[in-house]
Formats: sequence, structure tokens, C-alpha cells
Amino acid sequence: MRDFDEHNITAAVIDRFANTPDPRLKRIMASLVTHLHDFIRDVEPSFSEWESAIAFLTRTGQMCDDKRQEFILLSDTLGASMLVDAINHRLPAGATETTVLGPFFVQNAPIFQNGADITGGLAGEPLFVEARITAADGAPLPGAVVDVWQSDDDGFYDVQRTDLSAAALRGQFRADSAGKIWFRTIQPAPYPIPYDGPVGDMLRATERHPWRPAHVHFMIAAPGYETLVTHVFSAGDEYLDSDAVFGVKNSLIRDFTRQPPGKLPDGSDIATPWRHLTYDFGLKPLAQQQAA
Ligand SMILES: [Fe+2]
Repeated sequence: MRDFDEHNITAAVIDRFANTPDPRLKRIMASLVTHLHDFIRDVEPSFSEWESAIAFLTRTGQMCDDKRQEFILLSDTLGASMLVDAINHRLPAGATETTVLGPFFVQNAPIFQNGADITGGLAGEPLFVEARITAADGAPLPGAVVDVWQSDDDGFYDVQRTDLSAAALRGQFRADSAGKIWFRTIQPAPYPIPYDGPVGDMLRATERHPWRPAHVHFMIAAPGYETLVTHVFSAGDEYLDSDAVFGVKNSLIRDFTRQPPGKLPDGSDIATPWRHLTYDFGLKPLAQQQAA
């Protein structure tokens, strides 16, 4: 076939994928071509706009390395990450809602005992976190592996700071016989997603702000359950209704309550005011996912 024009090229390109052996890939390619062509017909880009789009995607890729994931930021800021999350996590009652992984998770974080201090010496308002890990039906899950990570008092993750020689404000805990974990940290600060790259250019050009409300990330894994990826957000934060990556859900907001000096929940003394966060996480059984 020849003489492709703006009316017949879409069907011709889809037809070129007709021999794709994997039916899922075949369907994805046909949909990609359909929507991409419809998008182009809709906005009718000039050649210089098309070149700008290619340059934008090129810079997005070039910005990525083992510590910076600009494509995840792009996906997050376009709401694509939350949409993928939503269609993959239709949850049973009792299961904790999910939200974006974000670009700051690091594999193989330091392993801590319950009660440990994960600050790595970074200063801030003390925060004591207690969490309980259960199945969606409320049964405790001893041995669940809980990754936590968060921003510091200035809104930076350890991987963004060049002055740290070790991980800080991240770690891995294991739930005790009652399904509980607890640790000491500091109150996280709201922070702007990195905006010194192409995603930042997009936010500036569209007069969007890059801020995320303060939160602590949790990733919780237990055999037989779907791994839970979520955050707990600090109530009262000014960015809860305008999170740059659309990640806030009401069920994930908690008061990080202010407490007077005295004793921490583990019985140790504390001479300064501190904050207390408690959250009960419910995991979705894998069987329900397979049956769906
Ligand atoms: Fe975060």
C-alpha cells in the first residue's frame, strides 16, 4: 500500500503490526497508534512543535540515572502513575489504599531492629512511628517486611544530598509477633519534586507548582499478599489538595500529633516536644487479585 494520508495512515500502521505473536503486545501497539494518531490530528503540531516534543523526551531520558528518574516524574505529574495505580488496586474492605511509589525508593535499604533511630543523625522535630500490619480481615502479619523512606527537615531525600556518606531516613523493619513495627525519626517536610529538568520546565510553562505534602513512604511485603506501596500524609499540610503528583487520598492522612516532653511509647525519656504517628495497614490477599 502507498499514498498514505492523514485519513488512511492509522489503519495502515496498525495493519503493519498484524503478525505480532503476543496478543497483548498486538493490542497495546494498536491502541498506542490509534491514540497517538488521534492526538496528532487533534493538536495538529507544527514541525517545530514536533521537534520540541522529541527534544523534551530526549532530555527526559538523558536526565535519568540510578538516582534520578525523570520519566517517573513525568508519569507522576501527568497523573499517569496514579491512574495505573488506581486500575491495578481495586481493593477489598479493610485493605489500605495505595499511592505512587515515587522516584526516591532505594532497593536494599539498611535493616533495623524495631525501636531504632533511622535519622542517621539528621536534625528535626522528633517523630515516633508505630504501625501495625494486618491482612485486610484484621489478622496480624508477623514477619511482614516494611520499607520506610521519607524527606528530611528541609524536604530532601538522602539520595538528593551530596553531603551524606550513608543512607538516612530510610530503612527496613520486620513486623513482630503482633504484626507491629516502631521506630524513631523526624517530622518529614513538604518538598518540591525535582524541577531542574524537563518536568520542571513543563510545570513552569503551565504555571503549576512542584510541591508535595509532607509524608512518610511505606512499602510492605508479606507472603501471600499483594505488596502494599503507599504513604501516610501529615494532616494540615498546605499541599494536601494540590499534590504535584495527585497522590493524596483521605484514608492516608493522619494527625502526626504533637506531644509534650516526657516519655516515648517505648518507655524511653525525651526532653523535647515530639510527634506521634500511628497507622494500621491492611494488606490485600493475593488470591483475590488472581480471582479478579
Ligand atoms: Fe516522597
